[in-house]
Amino acid sequence: MLKHKHYYAILATKMGEAANTTMVDAARAVLDANQREQWTVPSPKLYPHQWLWDSCFIAIGLRHYDTARAKQELLSLLRGQWQNGMIPHITLTPNDEHWANADFWQSGRSKYAPNTPTSGLTQPPVLATAALLVSEKLDGANQRIFLKQMFPALLAYHSWLYTDRDPGQTGLVALIHPWECGLDNTPYWDMALHHFSPLWVGAFLKLGFGKFINNYRKDTQAVPQKQRLTTVEALKFAALAFNLRKHGYDASLCLKHNRFAVEDVSYNSILAAANKDLGKIADIIAEPIPTDLAFRFQTTNKALELLWDSNDGLYYSRSFHNKEPLRVATVASLLPLYSGVISKERADVLVRHLINKQSFWPAFPVPSVATNDSHYTSDRYWQGPTWINMNWLLYHGLKNYGYDELAESLRQTVFRLVNNSSFHEYFSALDGSGYGIDQFSWTAALSIDLFYTGAGATNGGTRSGVFTNNQPSNQTTNTQ
Ligand code: GLC
Repeated sequence: MLKHKHYYAILATKMGEAANTTMVDAARAVLDANQREQWTVPSPKLYPHQWLWDSCFIAIGLRHYDTARAKQELLSLLRGQWQNGMIPHITLTPNDEHWANADFWQSGRSKYAPNTPTSGLTQPPVLATAALLVSEKLDGANQRIFLKQMFPALLAYHSWLYTDRDPGQTGLVALIHPWECGLDNTPYWDMALHHFSPLWVGAFLKLGFGKFINNYRKDTQAVPQKQRLTTVEALKFAALAFNLRKHGYDASLCLKHNRFAVEDVSYNSILAAANKDLGKIADIIAEPIPTDLAFRFQTTNKALELLWDSNDGLYYSRSFHNKEPLRVATVASLLPLYSGVISKERADVLVRHLINKQSFWPAFPVPSVATNDSHYTSDRYWQGPTWINMNWLLYHGLKNYGYDELAESLRQTVFRLVNNSSFHEYFSALDGSGYGIDQFSWTAALSIDLFYTGAGATNGGTRSGVFTNNQPSNQTTNTQ
């Protein structure tokens, strides 16, 4: 009997290995199909330009089998960099019919914009981290050459974030549009925009144009409407973009005239980690980080604590203007784990939330909104579904604090999701169904990365992606 069990175990492992090797091949095919000139689009149908954090995640996957393309993916982002240092959230493909095209953004309204048309906003600053991770696959001399190419742009970008977006020097960078945090219609941004209801949006809806707009929306032609932004959300986002455009994307004007800026917990957690990685890059190429900038990095590490809510034991984003917390339990509340700069005590509390089956650990964690929160919707975009980039960030967050088994469990969840439902944009946290567009680049790229990265570190390098247990491991805060 024992002998049989042993054979079954070996067979299961082999089958898992085969499944995940096939998974890697399929993921590579997605990245090949989505490749454009020097970069990769998130999805040809839905997102036909180059997005900032998407390209970072894509390069993180590419580095395992094509370092030249991984480097190019990141270097190509720099063609969109503004003279003030901002790296835009979209570098546009000219003449594409996508609605968010050059006419929509009119980036030339800012004197800092480059000739290449771009959006007028930024996105989570994963770039320093991606550059470091890609560079680790290069030999010493080539690593330094590549990092030297990236460093001035990275330094300018991080400096811009502090100069333009942290005028009060709190250590927390403020965002002026939900697209900047990348979790677009996450409920806490909805709260922040509660009082933002431009007259024309109201008039459009009153006149019954909602349906008409819906027919015009490309996203709802490709994906069921209930999985996307509502028409009200979509109109508000466009209206806010027009408002920023009117101010020439000048942050000081936007922060002064609008009351909708947010000190975003996910963004600032990612920034804290990226600051550390920029420091590592500086060390490798023996370049200094200017003292005043290094000081600002420290302020961010401390300032995350300003977002801690001791009643709920969670971190919340807060309004830039009145500092009121935006209390809703989303995956962003857990991302300080990824920053690696919060205390072990705080991390333990977050992990207790994470492994709670009633909130953040349903069958296919991690939901973008806690399943027991009134804002949770199983299939709507950032209001409930599980996203692979969030799982990737939390995988590393758990590793930061020694929760290796739990991290492994999350890694296996990613394999279960993509093996069962392909490389969708997001997934049901309850039953794993694929939602949004299929063949989505960062889902493919981060699955590849988790396949190569996690295995060696956690199971003796066997690279098996075998799912063994759907429950969080016994590794709880008590055992730490
Ligand atoms: C959606 C996501 C955003 C991503 C973009 C392109 O807008 O919310 O985070 O960067 O699509 O994939």
